[in-house]
Amino acid sequence: MTEQERQKKIELLKELQQLYMELYGDEEAFAFFVKMLDKNAGERRPALRKLDETRAGDAHWYHSNKLLGMMLYVQNFGGSINAVKDHLPYLEECGINYLHLMPLLDSTKGKSDGGYAVSDFRKIRPSLGTMEDLENLADACHEKGISLCFDFVLNHTSEDHAWAKAARAGDPVAQSRFFLYDNWEIPHKYEQTVPQVFPTTAPGNFTWCDALQKVVMTTFHNYQWDLNYANPMVFNDMTDNLLYLANRGMDVIRLDAIPYIWKELGTNCRNLPQVHTIVRMMHLACQLVCPGVALLGEVVMEPREVVPYFGPEEKPECDILYNVTTMCTTWHCLATRDVRLLSHQMEQVCRLPDNCFFQNYLRCHDDIGWGLDYGFLSQYGTDEVAHKKYLNEWFTGKWPGSWARGEMYNDAADLGDARTCGTTASLCGLETGILEMLDSKGEASLRRGLDCDLMLHAWLFTQTGIPVIYSGDEIAQLNDYSYHEDPAHWDDSRYVHRGKFDFALAEKRLEKGTVQQEIFDGLQKLKDTRAEYDVFRSDAKVYVYYTGDDRVFGLLREYEGQTLVGLFNFSEHPADVKLYAPHETGDAVWRDILADTEIRPEEGQPAADIHLNGYGFYWLYRKEQQA
Ligand code: GLC
Repeated sequence: MTEQERQKKIELLKELQQLYMELYGDEEAFAFFVKMLDKNAGERRPALRKLDETRAGDAHWYHSNKLLGMMLYVQNFGGSINAVKDHLPYLEECGINYLHLMPLLDSTKGKSDGGYAVSDFRKIRPSLGTMEDLENLADACHEKGISLCFDFVLNHTSEDHAWAKAARAGDPVAQSRFFLYDNWEIPHKYEQTVPQVFPTTAPGNFTWCDALQKVVMTTFHNYQWDLNYANPMVFNDMTDNLLYLANRGMDVIRLDAIPYIWKELGTNCRNLPQVHTIVRMMHLACQLVCPGVALLGEVVMEPREVVPYFGPEEKPECDILYNVTTMCTTWHCLATRDVRLLSHQMEQVCRLPDNCFFQNYLRCHDDIGWGLDYGFLSQYGTDEVAHKKYLNEWFTGKWPGSWARGEMYNDAADLGDARTCGTTASLCGLETGILEMLDSKGEASLRRGLDCDLMLHAWLFTQTGIPVIYSGDEIAQLNDYSYHEDPAHWDDSRYVHRGKFDFALAEKRLEKGTVQQEIFDGLQKLKDTRAEYDVFRSDAKVYVYYTGDDRVFGLLREYEGQTLVGLFNFSEHPADVKLYAPHETGDAVWRDILADTEIRPEEGQPAADIHLNGYGFYWLYRKEQQA
């Protein structure tokens, strides 16, 4: 270790100690924590240390515009960790170099919440493989330049975790790790201020435990026991688990449901200041043990709550966050054919400091919650409850004329806060299009679905951040309704978009003229172009380009004299907009870099006329002439 590195370590430890004492005021627990860090640092394999060293020179290694992510369920993608390893060539063909594996740790069947109810943080679910398989997969991925992201579920354990079992057996130390109450008095007080995560599928935030004769806090499902982070032992052991997982060769650790981890009576138990202290301490722990590892925060909250999770630039908390607001705003634009909210939203995203880096996506394993900026929308007379109802009706195909095919999620009658599930393709209208093709109702609706799906992906690939595809979207996989018959999942409509990856369907990507080929090749073209042009770099300047047509969204990217304007028609109807050159200099000649054609204004005109088909899009590029 160089002197400089030693000094840095001392500084990090100092900050850690200060935060730890502020929160816990417990010297002994801190000494234990530091020992635990040393143990994990000692256990880090040489190959991983080498990776840390390489990344030390490139702290923002994950900012590259050459990264393309995919998230997938191992059980749906070949069925085991080893099968995923065998399918790496397919992922490479897709151009994936960042792979998010959905939860793999041991979890009780039927009470697993898709793996988010962990019963052992150090054991892979036996049906999927072993820890050794995971390490081998990580090595194989690293050889191919693929980074791995792994879920760390820290708000709760499964009721079958050893701690919960010991608590049920009467062990007071284990009991102190959870929130247990002798009667409903305090739980009822909490319920007055704490909203519900799953109002219909898992109502309430507490569960009566017969074995204990006590009430347990269970913010999510009744089998997910909330951990009490006011107990330093919980923080110590969970950070130990995090580092253990990082040491298996993971590059990014996803902090699941992070806003929920601190509870205080009289509050909504979301985003409390202590959460930020804990995330900062976890970040410091990673810097000390596995500095090459980045933390991805899952903060599915209203826009103003999200950005604080990056922390101050010099004291980062999460390195990457889900861009949940842009995601749900995008779907809102599609249903309303009105991009004004997206422009407003992107104005704010573009102004964020460089350390604010997002993982962008259209769909993930969860529902789409309609956490839009209703303050902004209210100026157009939009009413929150009525609007959510409209969005849900549009995306479930109930709205007259809607071609979207999704399902409603957690539609509690009194709340007006239901959400939407479905795959990108089905929500875009491709499911309807394919069915109508079978009925020989013509190709128009299929064409519309394809165009919409591609336009949304083009928009995804235009944003700064890591674009992450939801497995199956690259071949336009449709909803899977088989969960309706599955006793373990029938009541959770998120499973409509959690179907098995259809490898036979994927073969059709090689057949000219198929839906799969058009989407697959379309995504390839977008990915290759994004990687090729420097205007897509994360350090490019980005602005909203106002097109003058509320249906057409524009984003302008600038990097070293190069400009790219992305135009996206969020309506099924054609639109015409004008494209002005951003600077006075030079003539306004643009290159359509996807079609490889030239676009120039009519003689004597300052702007080029751009015609967009329904759901049409462009990437228009120009380079300033060197003086
Ligand atoms: C996260 C996951 C979600 C899960 C919840 C509870 O929000 O994304 O799927 O239900 O955490 O662990």
